[in-house]
Parts: sequence; structure tokens; C-alpha cells
Amino acid sequence: MKPRTFGVLTVVLIALLGAPMPAMPQQGALKEGKVLYERHCAGCHGIAGDGLGPDIKDLIVPPANFRSPTSRIKTDMELYLAIKHGVLFSPMHAWADRLSDQEIWDVLSYIRMLAPFDAVG
Ligand code: HEC
Repeated sequence: MKPRTFGVLTVVLIALLGAPMPAMPQQGALKEGKVLYERHCAGCHGIAGDGLGPDIKDLIVPPANFRSPTSRIKTDMELYLAIKHGVLFSPMHAWADRLSDQEIWDVLSYIRMLAPFDAVG
């Protein structure tokens, strides 16, 4: 490839990568997601994502079991919105003020690694 062509391609690539992509489904970073999950979520949702964390004794509404068909059938966007804005009338509060969009995708990717999306349920 000529150096000039390479230069043009680089500019195009940077322009594409830098384009704003608000709330578009994207791949999160699993390593960061694991740390965030274990710090903030595992107490309720359990290390394995089965909804059996150590803090659930006092909860009126049990945490979602991500491995259940009901959760696995939900799209990434549905789960993303549940994390960002919380689930009404449940102990699952909104995380928008504590996690950045990127961190929400990171933690969501980790959840989807524990319990992959399953369209059939
Ligand atoms: C205080 C306990 C608690 C903590 C901490 C908590 N959750 Fe939840 N979560 C819940 C409960 C309760 C529900 C709602 C269950 C329902 O709607 O029946 C829920 C629901 C969800 C759902 C929706 C699942 C579905 O199938 O609809 C997602 C996604 C989720 N939580 C992710 C997270 C993430 C990510 C974190 C950490 C950043 C987190 N939760 C921290 C209790 C908790």
C-alpha cells in the first residue's frame, strides 16, 4: 500500500471510530465488566449470575436470575436500560449516576458471558 493511501485510510478510520454512538449496542470490555460486576452486582445477582447473592435475604423482590430463560430472551438493549434506569418498584435502582455508558456495556458484556442471549428462551 502506498504511504499516501495508508494515510487516507487512517484518517477515515479515525473519523469512523470517533463518531458519536449514543446508546448503541456495543461490545464491552469483559475484564472491566467482571470487576464492576463483582463489586456492585454480585451481592444481589450472585457471582454466577443466578440471582442468589449473599445480600438477598432482606429483599422483597428477588434479583433477576440472568441464567433463566426469562432473562436470556431479553435483548442487550432491554438489559442495558434496566441497568441504566433501574427497575420500577424493585431494589434494582438506576446506575446511570454511578456507571458511565461504557461501564454499563462492560458489565452487561460480562453478564452475557455468564448467560448468553437466547432468542428461543
Ligand atoms: C440490591 C440488590 C441489587 C443490586 C445491587 C443489583 N441488582 Fe439488578 N436487579 C435486582 C432486582 C431485585 C431486579 C429486578 C427483578 C424483577 O424485575 O423482578 C434486578 C434486575 C436487573 C436486571 C434486569 C434483568 C431482567 O431479566 O429483566 C438487570 C440487567 C440487572 N438487574 C443488572 C444489574 C447490574 C449490572 C447490577 C450492578 C451494577 C445490579 N443489577 C445490581 C437487584 C439488584
